[in-house]
Amino acid sequence: MPRKVILDVDPGFDDALALCMALFDPRLEVVAVTAVGGNVPPQQATRNVQAIVEQLDPPRLPRVGAASPPDAGLPVDSRHLYGIDGLGDVEIQVAELRAPHPSEKIICDEVRAAPEEVTLVALGPLTNIARAFQRDPELPSLVHRIVIMGGTVSGSGNITPAAEFNIFCDPVSARAVFRSRSTKTLVPLDVTNRVILTFDFLDQLPAEATRVGKFLRRILPPAYRAYRQEWGLEGIHAHDTVTLVAVTNPEWFKTQEMAGDVETRGELTKGATVFDRRRAPAWRCNMEVVTDLDAEKVVEEIQRNLAHAGKCTAGR
Ligand code: BDR
Ligand code: CA
Repeated sequence: MPRKVILDVDPGFDDALALCMALFDPRLEVVAVTAVGGNVPPQQATRNVQAIVEQLDPPRLPRVGAASPPDAGLPVDSRHLYGIDGLGDVEIQVAELRAPHPSEKIICDEVRAAPEEVTLVALGPLTNIARAFQRDPELPSLVHRIVIMGGTVSGSGNITPAAEFNIFCDPVSARAVFRSRSTKTLVPLDVTNRVILTFDFLDQLPAEATRVGKFLRRILPPAYRAYRQEWGLEGIHAHDTVTLVAVTNPEWFKTQEMAGDVETRGELTKGATVFDRRRAPAWRCNMEVVTDLDAEKVVEEIQRNLAHAGKCTAGR
C-alpha cells in the first residue's frame, strides 16, 4: 500500500524538484500539497504549487492548500537568488487560479481522515504545521510522522551564521512543532549539504518531450546559474529532494535520537536549532535526527525516480 503523504512546500526549485518525484512515485499517495511562505511570499507560493501541479498533471490530483504569512511576517525570502517567482522567472503559466482552503485546514482534514497514516513532509518553514496543531491539539498524535527539512546540528547556518533558512523564517512555529508530541525526523543542513547535483545531472533529466523534463529543463538552469554566481559552486544543493528520499528510502540514512529545540529570540542566534548533546543530557529526546547519508545512492535514486516520472509524462 502506498504511504499517504502531505507535502508542505515553499517552491523554490528544490521543493519543485521534490514534487516532480513525489507526484509520480508509486510508493507514495500524495493526498495534498500545501503551500507555505518561505522561498517566496505566501501568495506566490500558493500560485507556484497550483502552477506546478497543473504543469505536471499527475495521475492523482492532490488537494492544494493556500499559504498565509507567519504571525511575525516573513523575515526573508530567496527571490534575490531564484527570481521574483522563485522558479527562475521562466513564466510558468497557471490556467485556472482557484481559491484553495488554507493549508492548515487541509492538513487537519487529511490527517483526521486517515489517523496515524499520514506522513507530513515539511520542506519549508513550519508555519502551517504549527497552525494545524494549534487548531486541532490532538493532531500531533494522529500524524504518522513528520519529516522536516531544516536546522543544523553542528554545521553553520545558511541564512545567518547560526540559522538554517526554513527555521529562521518562522522560529516560533518551528519551536512549537519541535516541542509537539509528534513523531519527528529532522533532516538538517549538515547532511543535505553533502549532496550536490552537478551539471551532468541536468543532461540526464527526462527528455524535453515529457512534462517533467520540459518543466525541470526550464526551472533548473537558473538555479545552477545562481549557485555559481553566489557561491562559486558547480552544481546545486537539493535539500528538499534529499529529504523526500529519506521518506522513500530510509535505508540510506543514519539517524540518532536527539533532544532539540529552537532559539526564537537571540540577536545573533534567532532560528538556530539547539541540541542537548551534553554527556549527561537534561532534555528528553524528542526527535530522530539524520546524521549521515549515502550521497551516491541518494543521487542515483533521484535520477531513477525522475526517469520514472519522465516515462509517466511522455508525449503529454
Ligand atoms: C531550505 O531552504 C529553502 O531555501 C530550500 O527550499 C530548503 O527547503 C534549505 O535551507
Ligand atoms: Ca523548501
